[in-house]
Amino acid sequence: MSIELKSVLAGAVTLLSEAGVPSPSADANILVAHVLGVERRELSRRVILGYQLSADESSRLAGLLDQRSKRVPLQHLTGSAGFRRLDLLVGPGVFIPRVETEWVAGVAIEAASVLRDPLVVDLCTGSGAIALALADELPAARVVAVELDPPAVQWAQRNIEALGSRVELRPGDAVRCHEHLLADLAGAVDVVVANPPYIPPDAEPTEPEVRDHDPVLALYGGGDDGLAIPRGVVEAAAGLLRPGGLLVMEHADVQGAGGRALTSPPEWIDVHTQRDLTGRDRALLARRAG
Ligand SMILES: C[S@@+](CC[C@H](N)C(=O)[O-])C[C@H]1O[C@@H](n2cnc3c(N)ncnc32)[C@H](O)[C@@H]1O
Repeated sequence: MSIELKSVLAGAVTLLSEAGVPSPSADANILVAHVLGVERRELSRRVILGYQLSADESSRLAGLLDQRSKRVPLQHLTGSAGFRRLDLLVGPGVFIPRVETEWVAGVAIEAASVLRDPLVVDLCTGSGAIALALADELPAARVVAVELDPPAVQWAQRNIEALGSRVELRPGDAVRCHEHLLADLAGAVDVVVANPPYIPPDAEPTEPEVRDHDPVLALYGGGDDGLAIPRGVVEAAAGLLRPGGLLVMEHADVQGAGGRALTSPPEWIDVHTQRDLTGRDRALLARRAG
């Protein structure tokens, strides 16, 4: 039995709304478009034309809506996440790139864009989001990415291959990686960018999509303040950056002062906290002293 698209969409929005999904209309549209294999904007045309879903389409959609009602992340259901100009492959085992990180990547891209043949390092790369965006938007840059968690390394590798990107992926620990994994780049890097795990131990995320589906290794930064891994990332950046090179590191909105305290003189200059578009402290910026 076929069902009209218009009533399918209305039913999907109601179902997701009753399940407490934060953006039921957007999610319903994305899932229906995914099942039909069309762009979202095509849906309104099909509604006007009175499109009927086949039995197979209805049943696949019902399965996806059921999972989304149980708060499985939308991006796990569609298998992709948008990040700046890219569509990235994502799924269980990798952190879903966030909108605020698009902005952090933009800060690094802008800084590197004024340099000739910049060398840029993305520590804690996850799906490869920041590194892939850097390589995409800075054709002359050499981009090296580090990730510790084996499932995330696989996702990053998949994305590098799917996009045909030149990002060089180095699996391993970003903490003090200037002494081991990236020893060959010590003192030569123009920009180090990182979105490390930084959530403090007492700030467990409440959204089921994050709490139950993002990898634990991607969330908690360690220590009382969540800054243990970020501290190791800053130490790595101090060893990797050339004099005048820039560190851009994302952190939680409550970690502005804590972040700045990691980059004190004389090793660091021009230390400041950058606010995001919503006015929240979002990233630590600091230059390696000469
Ligand atoms: C918050 S996620 C960010 C991922 C990606 N940069 C993004 O913005 O979407 C942090 C990532 O750091 C990785 N990670 C955690 N500890 C690490 C370490 N010591 N060395 C390298 N990567 C690490 C996690 O596995 C996870 O993929």
